[in-house]
Amino acid sequence: MGRVVGSIAPHGGQLVNRILRGGLREAALERARSFTQVQMTRMAISDLEMIAVGAFSPLNGFMTQEEYDSVIDTMRLPGGLPWTVPVTLPVSTETAAGLEEGQEVALMDGDYLMGIMTIADKFPADKEREAREVYRTTEQAHPGVARLYRHGDWLLGGEVFMLNGPRDSDFPELRHEPAQTRRMFASRGWRRIVAFQTRNPIHRAHEYIQKTALEIVDGLFLHPLVGETKADDIPAEVRIESYQAILRDYYPAERVLLGVFPAAMRYAGPREAIFHAIARKNYGCTHFIVGRDHAGVGNYYGTYDAHHIFDEFDTAELGITPLFFDYTFFCRKCGGVVSAKTCPHTKEDWVYLSGTQVREMLERGEMLPEEFTRPEVSRVLMEGIRLRKPPAEGEG
Ligand code: ADX
Repeated sequence: MGRVVGSIAPHGGQLVNRILRGGLREAALERARSFTQVQMTRMAISDLEMIAVGAFSPLNGFMTQEEYDSVIDTMRLPGGLPWTVPVTLPVSTETAAGLEEGQEVALMDGDYLMGIMTIADKFPADKEREAREVYRTTEQAHPGVARLYRHGDWLLGGEVFMLNGPRDSDFPELRHEPAQTRRMFASRGWRRIVAFQTRNPIHRAHEYIQKTALEIVDGLFLHPLVGETKADDIPAEVRIESYQAILRDYYPAERVLLGVFPAAMRYAGPREAIFHAIARKNYGCTHFIVGRDHAGVGNYYGTYDAHHIFDEFDTAELGITPLFFDYTFFCRKCGGVVSAKTCPHTKEDWVYLSGTQVREMLERGEMLPEEFTRPEVSRVLMEGIRLRKPPAEGEG
């Protein structure tokens, strides 16, 4: 645990640091050569990084059964601290059978050693209960539930250390860790910082809510998620390019910091909104934007369920202030982005596009309407989709 810079305390009071360096790392690398290897899922790989850098403080490892049950049933860790989604290391039944509590294992991404763990607990996943409580559905059409069911049936809990950063560590220049963002905010003199989570390009509605929030704080931390997402979400590298384009042309550089959030997307809607807020507190943010259907997918959650879940916690125990926004969109009569709270006009004047419509237009090589997305962003997205689209049969 290092000295924590910044005015906001990390969740649980101390910023976790589970990265081994120098001689300690060398010694662990040597010992790990004789450890049994455990293959991690893509989500566990990103979770290991998130734990190690302190983004998931106070977690210092994958959850034990006591933690897992407590989080699923009460949305709190056993000591009572709010925590809404399980952070687990799933393995197959065969792998679990060969491991014992107390044993040290090597945490692997294929043949790449990323970390070590002391197994404190080994227990079967309660997938149906986890799906029902965390995702609010047991339907496999839900991408988070589908992943849960695809993963191994046993979970390994215990403290971890990261010895090597993730093998596929994209965007190194944007991968600011919580200790770094705290220093960056402090050096800019920002005391009130609003974080914006996103897995999408910045459309006009996003820009509007970010800038509205920025009016009442010192800085905006634009923090797109770049961990595992579902196949039809726009790839992170295309999104990052689009963020850079819009920041260059439409945002005051001295008031905005762009960084990436390496976690996997859970699509757990309300519970993930709390989890996203807590993680951003660990990065040193004081405020967190929650708009319509935050972290939602399909029609699994009500438009404002991710607002309502905050009523179940004291703002003080969360330690970060949510800023709630209604559904916003462009109104032709108002000539700007509005919500039903601020606009007296009707649907005929409003410009809405669904994610599917956006994808279809981009795939056809059509610019998105300017009321919906800035042309600079449309161009990056169109080009990104064109280059990355797999060739149709018979082509190339
Ligand atoms: S999310 O899965 O990361 O929540 P997305 O990138 O679409 O998805 O949203 C980022 C944030 O902006 C979330 O807080 C979401 O609720 C909010 N948001 C997205 N679109 C709108 C909109 N049209 N109006 C209001 N809030 C929105």
